[in-house]
Amino acid sequence: PPYRVGVIIGSLSRESINRRLALALEKLAPPELEFFEISYADLPLYNRDLDADYPQTALDFKDAIRSADALLFVTPEYNRSLPGALKNAIDWGSRPWGQNAWSDKPVGVIGASAGQIGTAVGQQSLRSTLSFLNARQMTTPEAYIHFTPGLIEADGEVTVPATEEFLRMYMAKFLEYVARVLTVIPQA
Ligand code: FNR
Repeated sequence: PPYRVGVIIGSLSRESINRRLALALEKLAPPELEFFEISYADLPLYNRDLDADYPQTALDFKDAIRSADALLFVTPEYNRSLPGALKNAIDWGSRPWGQNAWSDKPVGVIGASAGQIGTAVGQQSLRSTLSFLNARQMTTPEAYIHFTPGLIEADGEVTVPATEEFLRMYMAKFLEYVARVLTVIPQA
């Protein structure tokens, strides 16, 4: 497939409903998209004192971001914002100054929560950071998934047909968006 999408899951939980959502999205995506997970679980806490001697884990993380044609953030909302561990990873990717790995990357933002507003506020916090970092965000369609028990099985199977169709449409639009950005903006 022509496009490799790095998937960044905003939860470290083994039971993550956002990991299930990511699996569902991979299954429902058009064949032109291929996926790999970008993990950030082993990154230390960001500290600018380390900028001069960047840890290998952080260099590897930035290489993974750079190697992706596009990125898909699938994240819960923590206390009406993005999870701290995810923010820490984004900070690592943005530094040292002048070496921001997020710049010009086509990105999608989606998330699931048990709450009624389905990560809407958390996504806005994430979007504000990605906007500052010069990432190219798909802004329409938006996707706020209100997760009810059993909505997505552990293997990524979506049990509600309307939700399945919506997620399929979301990935079709994401492919269109990625193709358009990569046509217009030459990647580093
Ligand atoms: C939450 N949860 C939550 N849900 C929500 O809709 N809005 C919120 O602001 C928060 N805040 C929050 C903070 C913290 C620290 C935790 C642990 C949880 C609930 C959250 O949606 C639920 O735990 C999801 O299952 C988390 O996603 P993962 O980890 O299952 O992918």
